[in-house]
Amino acid sequence: MSFDLQGFPADSEALASLAARGLDYRLVDTADAAATSAWVEADFRGFHHARPRQIDLDYDRGLLAERRVHGVYDRAILEPAIPVATVSSWPTGLSVPGGRSVDAWAVSSVTVSPTHRRRGIARALMLAELQNARAAGAALAMLTATEATIYGRYGYAPAARAATVFVDRRRVHWVGPDAPGRVQFVDGAAIREIAPGIARRAVARTPGEIDRWPALLDRVLGLFDPDSERSRARRVVRYDDERGQAQGFAVFHVTRPPNEPGVAEFDFLAAATDDAERALWRFLIEQDFVSGTRGLLRSIDEPLPWLLEDPRAVTFSEVVDHLWLRMIDPIAALAARRYSAPGRLVIEVDDPMGIAGGRFELVVDDSGRAEVTALDQSDAAASARGVRRIGLGVRELGAIYLGGVHPSVLARAGRITERSRGSIAAADAMFAAQRTPHLSIWF
Ligand SMILES: CC(C)(COP(=O)(O)OP(=O)(O)OC[C@H]1O[C@@H](n2cnc3c(N)ncnc32)[C@H](O)[C@@H]1OP(=O)(O)O)[C@@H](O)C(=O)NCCC(=O)NCCS
Repeated sequence: MSFDLQGFPADSEALASLAARGLDYRLVDTADAAATSAWVEADFRGFHHARPRQIDLDYDRGLLAERRVHGVYDRAILEPAIPVATVSSWPTGLSVPGGRSVDAWAVSSVTVSPTHRRRGIARALMLAELQNARAAGAALAMLTATEATIYGRYGYAPAARAATVFVDRRRVHWVGPDAPGRVQFVDGAAIREIAPGIARRAVARTPGEIDRWPALLDRVLGLFDPDSERSRARRVVRYDDERGQAQGFAVFHVTRPPNEPGVAEFDFLAAATDDAERALWRFLIEQDFVSGTRGLLRSIDEPLPWLLEDPRAVTFSEVVDHLWLRMIDPIAALAARRYSAPGRLVIEVDDPMGIAGGRFELVVDDSGRAEVTALDQSDAAASARGVRRIGLGVRELGAIYLGGVHPSVLARAGRITERSRGSIAAADAMFAAQRTPHLSIWF
């Protein structure tokens, strides 16, 4: 998805609604170091982080050069160069069932200063991002959320969950197959060149994962601020297959109180093959002098318990709604993924914001490929004559899109309507994903 980030002006509606409140809404020129640093200051403050150091400002400026960055400014405050609200966004790929990637619009860094909260600033920014997503030609907008109550009102819904996985070291007895290759320690810098390729292949295997950006890998591998405690604690291991080809890597650190076994914790595991996934898990949970291993933002459907003699060695906690999706272009989005059952289904979507509403016919062939067409009113009679139909809101469509939420569950919650007999069961079968959707990073 190639797209000129600075190629169109700031959204005129947000501009007008914020101007009416005496505020300036601006597209930040990321080549302007002072303006970008001031924006980063506001972003850090908004998320309650400590003030950024020079090295943080430099890192974020590099990252923001690849994004569309907006700030809201109040000329009447003591520090008018620091925005009172921030948002950044960029076009990127989202993996969907069937191994393809759909063009999506990632939204991040949504903050409003506590001095300016609850005046509708976030609302103006979020509505503008939906227009940006449209202008970029994205099929969906997406984000990860600090609080689950913020984004539903803009049409977003949770579509892929994540959990913390803890493995009790004393109960680990591996009974799964041995991977034929080997795991070895590697320096973060030494793996940097091949890391994007492995990460890309890992992302493609799992619906809900999004493309990794270069600065993220620098941070994960401990190459950003390498002398910090955090970076120095990071250990990188790589899995090479039996032919010596690198197929995965994981980054972990051990937290340890004095004179006691520690906990091995990891927040990044990229596996391009099942062997790599098993081998890295095994390495991470079979450490000595640790009481256990904690994996952050792991899948709620990890195969791990099935690889151990004692499946209760594994506990899942902090199961969170992690990836939130907002349909922008249902035809492009629905056509991008593969389906688990053939069939014909009419989806009647209500979008109060007038972006993704309409009636869409999904015809899935035996290979799981879909043809999607928008129906107009004259097709109403045809679809009423026996074609399976469901009615749902734009949020519900986002929730079921990746296969992580069954349409029947939303029907039981009164959020999807069965407009013809058998249509919910058909939707369940069609939308099911072979692999549980999962997102393993924050963005
Ligand atoms: C979340 C945040 C950006 C909201 O900013 P804001 O300008 O106060 O929000 P708005 O005034 O535009 O509110 C719009 C609506 O969202 C609701 N809302 C805003 N923040 C909310 C929150 N944290 N929880 C629940 N509802 C919230 C408002 O009540 C309002 O509801 P309405 O549509 O019924 O009128 C702001 O609270 C913030 O910066 N939080 C800390 C950083 C953060 O968590 N950002 C989110 C990153 S994912």
